[in-house]
Amino acid sequence: MPLRRFAFLLLCVLAGVGCASESRERHAGTPEDPWVIGMSQCNLGEPWRVQMDADVRAAAARHPNLRVIFKDAQNSSLVQRAQVEEFVEQGVDVIIISPKEAAPLTRPVAEAYQRGVPVIVLDRAVQGDQYTTFIGADNVQIGREAGKWIRETLGGRGKIVELKGLMTSTPGQDRNRGFLEGLELDRHPGLEIVFTGEMQWLEPNARREMESALATNPEIDVVYAHNDPGAHGAWLAARAAGRETDMMFVGIDALLHEGQQYVAQGILDATFLYPTGGAEAIEVALAILRGEEVPKKIVLGTRLFTRENVGAGGQPIN
Ligand code: FRU
Repeated sequence: MPLRRFAFLLLCVLAGVGCASESRERHAGTPEDPWVIGMSQCNLGEPWRVQMDADVRAAAARHPNLRVIFKDAQNSSLVQRAQVEEFVEQGVDVIIISPKEAAPLTRPVAEAYQRGVPVIVLDRAVQGDQYTTFIGADNVQIGREAGKWIRETLGGRGKIVELKGLMTSTPGQDRNRGFLEGLELDRHPGLEIVFTGEMQWLEPNARREMESALATNPEIDVVYAHNDPGAHGAWLAARAAGRETDMMFVGIDALLHEGQQYVAQGILDATFLYPTGGAEAIEVALAILRGEEVPKKIVLGTRLFTRENVGAGGQPIN
C-alpha cells in the first residue's frame, strides 16, 4: 500500500471516522500507483462469462495505469454480495459487477455507491438507480426479434417450446417478455407455446427440460432458448430422441466459438448476439476515473446470425 494511502487510513482510524464518500482516497492512476478496478463476475462456469472477463482483461491490458482484481462469485448471490463489500473495504477505485440476480444485489451495490465508490453494473441489472452506470444490450428487443424471426420463419403457424433462463435475473424476464411481444400470439392463433421450462442458463438443465417437452409433445416446430447453451442442450435431447431434424433451434449469445459455430454446423438455426460489454466497461471506468460524466445507461447493439449470414458475420439489428 502506498505510504500516502496508509497515512490516510491511519488518520481515519485515529479520528474515528468512516472514510466514506467524498473523503475516499483514490489511487493516482499512474503505472506506479495504478487505479484499481474490482470486477465481480457472477460465475465462470459459462463460456459467455469467461469471454466477458477475457474482454475486460484485454481492454485493461492496454492501460498500464489500470489494474483489475477479478473475483468469481461461483453463481452465489451471497458470495457476490460479500465480494462487493470486500472491494469497498479494500479501497478499489471502481467496481464492475455482472450480478447474478437483481434483488439480493441491489443493496450491496447501493451501499458501495453511497460510500463513494463508482459502480458499473454490467449485463444483468439491479433494481433502482443507486449505481453509476448500467451497460448491457436490450434484452426485451432481443427477445422481440427472436419472436418475430420465429413467427415469420414458421409462417404464423407452429408449436413452440420456450426454455427460459434464470427468472430472478433481468435477462430472463426481458427475453421472455420481448419474445411474447414479437410472437404476437393474439394476431396469430396458429402459433402455440406448448411447453415452457426454466433451465437457469445451464445446458444440462435445458436438456432435462427438453426431455419432458419431447415426452409430452409429439409435435414441436421450434425451440427458443434464452441462451445458446440452453438451445444446444435442447438439441442434444432432441437428437437422443431422433427428432432433431423435425424442429428448429434458436438461441442467444452468439459467441464466436459457441453459438456462431453451432449455427455454422447446422445445430442452431439462429442466434442473436449478446455482447459482453467487457471492453466498454473498461472505457467507461476510465472516463469515470478521469472525472468525466458518463451516461446512466449504455445500450449495446445486437446481431442476428443464421445459416445464410453466419459466414459474413451476421446482420446488425437496429
Ligand atoms: C451466462 C449467461 C449468458 C446470458 C447471460 C445473461 O451466465 O447465462 O449465456 O446471455 O448470462 O445474463
